Amino acid sequence: MEFKDLGKTGEKIPAIGWGTWKYGADPGEEVNALKLGFERGFRLVDTAEMYNSEAIVGEAIKDAEGIFVATKVSPSHFDYDGVIKACDGSLKRLGVRQIDLYQLHWPNKSIPISETMRAMEKLVDDGKIRYIGVSNFSEREIEEAQAALKHNEIVSDQVEYSILVRQIENGLMDYCRKNRISIIAYSPLGQGKLYSRKYSGLYELLEGIGRGHGKSATQVALNWVVSKENVVAIPKAGSTTHVLEDSGSVGWKLDKKEMERINGFLA
Ligand SMILES: NC(=O)c1ccc[n+]([C@@H]2O[C@H](COP(=O)([O-])OP(=O)(O)OC[C@H]3O[C@@H](n4cnc5c(N)ncnc54)[C@H](OP(=O)(O)O)[C@@H]3O)[C@@H](O)[C@H]2O)c1
Repeated sequence: MEFKDLGKTGEKIPAIGWGTWKYGADPGEEVNALKLGFERGFRLVDTAEMYNSEAIVGEAIKDAEGIFVATKVSPSHFDYDGVIKACDGSLKRLGVRQIDLYQLHWPNKSIPISETMRAMEKLVDDGKIRYIGVSNFSEREIEEAQAALKHNEIVSDQVEYSILVRQIENGLMDYCRKNRISIIAYSPLGQGKLYSRKYSGLYELLEGIGRGHGKSATQVALNWVVSKENVVAIPKAGSTTHVLEDSGSVGWKLDKKEMERINGFLA
């Protein structure tokens, strides 16, 4: 098990957590999958009011303790009252009194960030959320959002990152590392594209590298993501089988040559 710092909070979160976008196909199995993931020590789960998966997450965390719950407010609710109302809805669906990490899902230029952040700070003051995060924000958008906060710091930016999608390496990753803002890597398996015929060459490369560690291609792909300083990953695993496999992605290391071979792959 590996943990990483959450921003400058002093709090540790697991290097792997569970994404829940597109949950709902088989809620019973999905609840079991999350519970298994938590039992194995990966006590971080990510959802959003937009995903329709908060109730499933709520069911999975019902009898568990110490789960770090991250959810998101949709950009259409970024006005002051909208944020407060959206948070109340998420608290209800999740069945919790407090959300650990409340994230702005995407930037919304049509509502002043100062208004949105005023509401986010009210939620912290009222004890409804613990930490404020953003998602899909650029360096500049993070700076504007941080400047709008009076007495809180942005602890994380949730952005797409995988072997297939590496844009954040062109600046955002360094910016977040320097400013101690955690990166929560979404779609770390390329939304399943890793398993498509188009990327069979990459899959074979990962499989070959994994063989030497007794690991699978999926486990190598996730290990590569979280081997980056300051980055945790939230794969979506809809079954206990996938949760078991994804749980084996940490606790071991790719060597320098293996990292270079993967880095050399261009999507
Ligand atoms: N903030 C944002 O804007 C944003 C955007 C996209 C995603 N996200 C978050 O990031 C999470 C993950 O991203 P994602 O759902 O886009 O894609 P992903 O995690 O890259 O890929 C999910 C796909 O990989 C499959 N998978 C997982 N483990 C597997 C395994 N061991 N073997 C074979 N297949 C496996 C899943 O299949 P099964 O479903 O069958 O397990 C699913 O088809 C989301 O659920 C969401 O929480 C956030």
